[in-house]
Amino acid sequence: MLSKRLYIETFGCQMNVSDSERIVTMLADLGYRPTSTPSDADMILLNTCSVRGGAEEKVYRRLANLRVFKKRNKHLLVGVGGCVAQQEGEELLKRLPWLDLVFGTHNLHLLPEMVAAAEGGERRCETDFIDNDQRLDLFPVTKTTSRLSSFVTVMQGCNNFCSYCIVPYVRGREISRRSDDIVNEIRVLTNAGVREVVLLGQNVNSYGLNTPNEPGFAELIGKIAEIQDLHRIRFSTSHPKDMSDELINCFREIPKLCGQIQLPAQSGSNRILQAMNRGYTRETYLEKIRKLKAARPGIAITGDMIVGFPGETEEDFEQTLSLLEEVRYIDLFSFVYSARPGTAAAEMADEVEREEKQRRLERLQHLQKNITMEIQSEYLGSVQSVLVEGEGKRSGQISGKADNGRTVNFAGDKKLIGSFVEVRITNVFQNSLLGEIA
Ligand code: SAH
Ligand code: SF4
Ligand code: F3S
Repeated sequence: MLSKRLYIETFGCQMNVSDSERIVTMLADLGYRPTSTPSDADMILLNTCSVRGGAEEKVYRRLANLRVFKKRNKHLLVGVGGCVAQQEGEELLKRLPWLDLVFGTHNLHLLPEMVAAAEGGERRCETDFIDNDQRLDLFPVTKTTSRLSSFVTVMQGCNNFCSYCIVPYVRGREISRRSDDIVNEIRVLTNAGVREVVLLGQNVNSYGLNTPNEPGFAELIGKIAEIQDLHRIRFSTSHPKDMSDELINCFREIPKLCGQIQLPAQSGSNRILQAMNRGYTRETYLEKIRKLKAARPGIAITGDMIVGFPGETEEDFEQTLSLLEEVRYIDLFSFVYSARPGTAAAEMADEVEREEKQRRLERLQHLQKNITMEIQSEYLGSVQSVLVEGEGKRSGQISGKADNGRTVNFAGDKKLIGSFVEVRITNVFQNSLLGEIA
């Protein structure tokens, strides 16, 4: 079979990264090999994200840039998938007469036949949501991998409808995958050399809540931990309201569960949390943080925060700043609020002015930078167990992650890739640690 080349650009969250991996695997069966440049591609796909404002325009701009390749090679196929594709649908094909295909977030499985149709000159758009009972068999399955760490999707979609968020609209309702399928997939992965899995979902910790015959998330982690050749388990992202005591207890009882958690608060003000429809208060959030720290001393906590939600006053914002000090996140993803079409918050009055939002973001990020450096400094002199995943940025260095999720670079032989190495930390930076073999 003559080999063709696929260039795929991925935006947004890990769910999209994982979907893109699946697309690459599926299209390999049609003879497409991945390439890292659009210029020599036979097919270009954009896997898009629409979580924040300007996402649609960004996709249209990127497509306009990519059109030169289409002009140069009339056999080139160009397609758009992911969350902007889900949101815009047919509109994309209408606005761009040269675009070949559009596929939504529930339609990845149709891609092979869509590509075959596109090769025959047909322009298809598939963005229908699929019913949950049929979706169970359509979960992305990672068959082989050359990596040590792999994503494994355990649930998809979201039922929470936080008032600012477009994800429930573009990803559809929550669905939990069968636990047997998950465990079997991880067995296959560990046989292929995987030593760490990152369990993925829009709200992983609501896994199993709507499937009475399946275990809950804590029990699922217990089952996964029994897989012998698997050494590390991480998960992302969790919703604070579904952070059960059973799950917190896993950090106490399951050593394979790494000491790291992403638990987005979004705001430190109860008034704003309520307007966001988050389903918890500052106090209940902090209580869960306290329990997590007790269950796994030194646990590295990361979070997401939004500034400038409609009606957010200076006082509300101060509450967010003080939450940072109380939780002491090792890292924080912070965003300026942007109104998304169709969401409840988009209808709310009292939009915060743009300059003010920006000013708040900068204050927040400045504070976080200091906290991050303070926590990183606490690792100085400590010995971390690092799963070496590849070469470091500097020559002679190798690199991997500590149990807490931080990247550690150190001088060492490439032969150590794939093994666990005890590393003493000698220097710390904002995003990584430097060390030497202990
Ligand atoms: N399911 C995850 C979040 C997915 S979206 C969770 O609930 O934690 C990733 C992050 O984008 C969110 O945590 C939020 O901080 C941010 N975000 C979502 N919608 C946004 C909006 N309209 N404006 C700004 N930031 C937003
Ligand atoms: Fe969006 Fe909220 Fe669902 Fe997260 S929990 S994906 S922020 S609606
Ligand atoms: Fe973006 Fe879709 Fe993920 S909107 S954040 S790619 S679920």
